Amino acid sequence: KSVSVVGVPFNGGQPRTGVEEGPIRLVEFGLLNQFEEMGYEVEYEANEDITSLRPAEDPDTLNLKQPKYVSAVTEVVSKQILKRAQEGKFVLTLGGDHSVALATVSGVFGAYPNACLVWVDAHADINTPASTDSGNIHGCPLSFLTGIAGDHPDFRWVQPLLKTNRLTYIGLRDIDEGEKAIIRKLGIKAFSMHHVDRYGIGQVVEMALNHVNPDRDLPIHLSFDVDALDPSVAPSTGTPVRGGLTFREGHYICEAIAETGLLVAADIMEVNPALEDTNSVFQTIQVGCSLARCCLGESLL
Ligand code: ARG
Ligand code: MN
Ligand code: MN
Ligand code: MN
Repeated sequence: KSVSVVGVPFNGGQPRTGVEEGPIRLVEFGLLNQFEEMGYEVEYEANEDITSLRPAEDPDTLNLKQPKYVSAVTEVVSKQILKRAQEGKFVLTLGGDHSVALATVSGVFGAYPNACLVWVDAHADINTPASTDSGNIHGCPLSFLTGIAGDHPDFRWVQPLLKTNRLTYIGLRDIDEGEKAIIRKLGIKAFSMHHVDRYGIGQVVEMALNHVNPDRDLPIHLSFDVDALDPSVAPSTGTPVRGGLTFREGHYICEAIAETGLLVAADIMEVNPALEDTNSVFQTIQVGCSLARCCLGESLL
């Protein structure tokens, strides 16, 4: 068993600093040793030098903030992830803000074109340059990856590798009006917290997989934004929203997907160790590590 861990210490997809320290703090907490204890051969790419890709000038373009910086970093990292995935390694990416999914999904779907994506998040992150209110690219990656963003001069490298019937959401509760229209129009299968309440997390994961992976034969990429968890569980994140997944619901998602044997890549995103008090940071990093271990099969008997 081998896992390739890719740290992406990047904050350019949103305005708050601190999220770039997510990867190093997860690693300092012992994540890599934990994987070794689970019997994994671990390689780690820290990408410490990505801030050198920040351009001198990066004006807002078609509503998006820092487009050149986000584009440059995610393009470089996507190649790294593509290579690791092509080598057959499980790729675990540690964010960084969720704009980094431009890199993870591009890399993973480059290697596994028939993969499906389970996006666990309070937010839908599918704003287009036209629909975004904030201009923060961490709210937009899925519009580029599905090809609905329209032409943007800085993101021409992003291929629309993700078909909308291979995308499903779990945990949504803060969706912009424009995003709701997109989700409805494209018929994207989305399970909000309302559905988690109604059906329970077991049924929700089952229904989500039935939609994107009906025969349970396609590779799965899980992109987990820690703000999907309730802020009482993962307080240290840039855009917390009340009413989220419990500790167990979050872990159940990772466990149930790992159990399929089809999970090829996972992202743990939006851990921001600069936010809230020491205890909140500890809790958030700890839960990030345990979600990652569950993705690698820790809880399977
Ligand atoms: N929908 C909002 C926006 O587009 C919030 C996005 C939050 N995304 C995230 N990855 N935390 O700005
Ligand atoms: Mn989010
Ligand atoms: Mn908005
Ligand atoms: Mn997100």
